[in-house]
Amino acid sequence: MRRTIPIVVLSVLSGLAQAQTSNAFNCNNFLKFANDPGTTLTTFKQSPETMAWNWFVCLNQPDATQASLRVWETFKPDDQVYLLKGAEPLPYSSRENLPSQVTELAQQQGMDPKGLFQFLGNDTPGSPQNGIQQVDGLALKMSPNPPVPPSNKEQLVRFHLMMGEDTFNFIVSNGIYNRDGLAKLTSNLSFPATAWELKTSWFWIGTNQDFKSQLVKDGYYISQAYYVNSTGQYQVGYAALSGMHVINKLTEDWVWTTFENRNNPKYTVTNDTPPKPMTNTTGPTEAAKPVNSSFQQQYSNLAQYELIGVQYDQNRAEPKLLANSQLESAFQGTSSCLACHSTAAYSTQKNTFFSFNIDHTGGILYPTSVLPNEDFIGYQKLDYVWSLKRAQWKR
Ligand code: HEC
Repeated sequence: MRRTIPIVVLSVLSGLAQAQTSNAFNCNNFLKFANDPGTTLTTFKQSPETMAWNWFVCLNQPDATQASLRVWETFKPDDQVYLLKGAEPLPYSSRENLPSQVTELAQQQGMDPKGLFQFLGNDTPGSPQNGIQQVDGLALKMSPNPPVPPSNKEQLVRFHLMMGEDTFNFIVSNGIYNRDGLAKLTSNLSFPATAWELKTSWFWIGTNQDFKSQLVKDGYYISQAYYVNSTGQYQVGYAALSGMHVINKLTEDWVWTTFENRNNPKYTVTNDTPPKPMTNTTGPTEAAKPVNSSFQQQYSNLAQYELIGVQYDQNRAEPKLLANSQLESAFQGTSSCLACHSTAAYSTQKNTFFSFNIDHTGGILYPTSVLPNEDFIGYQKLDYVWSLKRAQWKR
């Protein structure tokens, strides 16, 4: 009996010690790297995976001024920056009103009309607010089998882009929230070190309570959301967060991190016949695995999410490929975040964006290492920010 006491005490103590070392990261002002990007970079290089998780934890904490929102939910949605008629966006913290149809449907469905609703895309043909067509033009399907209920199996995974304040301020002060601004560029863009951006992926739940409970049990974060269907009707309901890209410009080549829910293969499928569970073929990387276990143990609300890997320097060979099964689904075998985004460029003479497709018999390939400078003659480089493609002509 006596002997067990010290063991219990010891294990409690070692638990505490562990918690303290991993908790040492301070979320205060992390979006600005605590005003000391040099020190953050040094810490980052010791373990990029640990820093990626620390940022993910900080992004998922309640916001200091709007406690009902997680920090990342206060980011500005890209659809409120690249406005349909190319107008100047509202200030960073202001939001456009929800369409009245959304508020009404939300009320009828017993949702909180004053709460946040993620806008998950407009499916009407030709809409510039696409939320289902991935970079390769394909969509990701839900599984035709349980646990996806029959009512949801026709749904496609939806995605959404958001930006941090310093990204937004740079876009506004350079007047590149519309195509007219891009067309006037006379030099390459260079975003500030404290620029952040997110790309998230979502399962549509709608109002199916059983499906919602199932996803909660599998550790998915649930949000209120809406989209416009292919015939122009608003659809309002719940959505579950299946994946998240988090990037910032701590390094010149940007830091590329991506997280997804470990249960995704149960819910999404490949486009093979018959479909197979959609898995991630690029990670988690060996370096990410132990960091995942340690953070998953510590943060119960994030325990089902895992980091797939980190890219941050074009001169580092590994990991060459990095993808999220939810966002680069069918082209994971040719997906390098850093290499593809490094091709973001605009020709002011032709008013076209650079094409990152490499034609190849048997299919399209994407660059998996940075292309040489001479490929970009006649283009202004957009500093890795491909979402600028969403900028509309002023009308
Ligand atoms: C083959 C090219 C390609 C690859 C590979 C790729 N992306 Fe993207 N990414 C894009 C394009 C194009 C967009 C704009 C999408 C849109 O507007 O719908 C984009 C958008 C984004 C955004 C929104 C903000 C921005 O910079 O445009 C983030 C964040 C992002 N990607 C992160 C990643 C991460 C992280 C990876 C790797 C895990 C990755 N991407 C892999 C092409 C790519």
